[in-house]
Amino acid sequence: MNDDSVVRLAPLFSALDDDAAASLHASMTTVRLLKGDDLFKEGDDGDRLYVVVEGKLKLGTSSGDGRENLLSILGPGEMFGELSLFDPGPRTATATAVTDARLLSLANDQVIGWVTRHPQVSLQLLGRLAQRLRRTNEVLADLVFSDVPGRVAKALMDLGSRFGVQKDDGLHVNHDLTQEELAQLVGASRETVNKALADFAARGWVRLEPRAVVVLDFERLSKRGR
Ligand code: CMP
Repeated sequence: MNDDSVVRLAPLFSALDDDAAASLHASMTTVRLLKGDDLFKEGDDGDRLYVVVEGKLKLGTSSGDGRENLLSILGPGEMFGELSLFDPGPRTATATAVTDARLLSLANDQVIGWVTRHPQVSLQLLGRLAQRLRRTNEVLADLVFSDVPGRVAKALMDLGSRFGVQKDDGLHVNHDLTQEELAQLVGASRETVNKALADFAARGWVRLEPRAVVVLDFERLSKRGR
């Protein structure tokens, strides 16, 4: 996919005609990150939102005693940084590049300008916020109702639906996460998550690779994550 088709996936752009999308694209600034770079930290002032063009980022929060939780992994076409715009206040999470990444950013006052001139853009943004709330509710319910293997299976399916590439031997999911990061994403210890992954591998549902997993039995894995 070229840059234009990637940014067209973002809610800011999806309702615009080609001319308006090109003009919005031209008013955005490119940001490049190296793997491991923090774009911003939880608590910082927020003055712009971002769209991922290339690479992956993680959004994380940490507790007072240093434990980390991952809210989401973002890839091309996904937007973030809008909470501190619509609900003025500090950044609610730290954004860190999981791979080298390229983003586009738009200053808050420009976002407001676009939203005011193009009401359909606000509908797209509202739609995306609603989707996020729906997903967050689901994650919360899973933390209460599902066991760790169920949450790991669900996280793999979710990563697979966004980053997976179907090949002859299965769905290749290059998530680029360490096992520690996968554990932070499902809200469990690394040991418990490793055990669940090893169990899935022993059953022939997945093949484990460094920072990647190949889903061999999609049906069983998705059933376990339901
Ligand atoms: P902001 O608070 O400006 O900076 C951190 C960003 O992380 C936030 O805007 C949202 O875009 C994003 N974010 C916060 N919470 C979640 C969540 N639960 N799921 C996905 N993205 C989130």
